[in-house]
Amino acid sequence: MIDTARKPTLILGGTGKTGRRLADRLTAQGLPVRIGSRSGTPPFDWENDATWAPALDGVGAVYISYYPDLAVPGAAEAVGAFANHAVASGVRRLVLLSGRSETEAQRAEEMLKASGADWTILRCAWFSQNFSESFLLDPLLAGEVALPVGTVGEPFVDADDIADAAVMVLTRQGHVGQLYELTGPRLLSFADAVAEIGKASGRDIRFKRISHAEFTAAVAGYELPAEFAWLLNELFTEVLDGRNEALTDGVQRVLGRAPKDFSTYATETAAMGIWSD
Ligand SMILES: NC(=O)c1ccc[n+]([C@@H]2O[C@H](COP(=O)([O-])OP(=O)(O)OC[C@H]3O[C@@H](n4cnc5c(N)ncnc54)[C@H](OP(=O)(O)O)[C@@H]3O)[C@@H](O)[C@H]2O)c1
Repeated sequence: MIDTARKPTLILGGTGKTGRRLADRLTAQGLPVRIGSRSGTPPFDWENDATWAPALDGVGAVYISYYPDLAVPGAAEAVGAFANHAVASGVRRLVLLSGRSETEAQRAEEMLKASGADWTILRCAWFSQNFSESFLLDPLLAGEVALPVGTVGEPFVDADDIADAAVMVLTRQGHVGQLYELTGPRLLSFADAVAEIGKASGRDIRFKRISHAEFTAAVAGYELPAEFAWLLNELFTEVLDGRNEALTDGVQRVLGRAPKDFSTYATETAAMGIWSD
């Protein structure tokens, strides 16, 4: 029997973009979950490893979504330390949410594997939900998205597809030791994505390419932490240099269906009023 049926699955980042959707899906199937975040019971904090043992107590599997991002220095060591801790306490089934072609994320994957866990890796493209549940929402509402990125194509993947994939690998046999690279079905530039959102929401939203220095200054203007500006610049430099300009069949392989298209995401999200004035 798979442990997710009788013991709770600990969902790190369980109130975030993918974790919340995974928790909803497992709960809807009558499967027990435990939210692993600072607001969970018991609380889980990546910054405080004394919180890890209580969060792991009695769970059957863990969905590992690191915060803030696997690209930050030290993320791989934190994921590795957590995986070692989990395996030592008898929790072997670990599913890692990872990122494509990020040096630090790939180091985290190696540390997960080295822990001796029964691992699965979901290595994902940029989430579509960055436009509705993250740092791109405010600029969209303001009518202009200014980013240090040009025409490079990104296969944005929907958080619903990631959550569906996580449910599949956590509840069915045959996914241990597998790495799935999850992308959407289409390459879009950030200008394309903003145009699709403008069309779906019936709003005039501009996209402007700016330099990295201008971007850093703009992020400072939004009163976000300096580390956040560093992280975004790192992602826009390292991940969006063209290396990820390719589609994969990961969603099809795990779920047996095509991934959700960005236009569907834009239409569904606009209908929820997220981008309305
Ligand atoms: N966004 C993308 O496009 C993308 C693409 C590929 C891979 N990834 C990877 O996905 C992971 C999650 O990124 P995301 O953007 O989707 O974030 P997210 O899951 O939306 O982040 C929010 C979650 O993190 C929790 N959290 C915040 N600070 C925490 C802390 N100190 N300790 C424990 N939990 C904490 C929050 O809950 P509380 O506030 O209750 O603590 C919340 O559940 C990252 O590791 C990233 O590298 C992201």
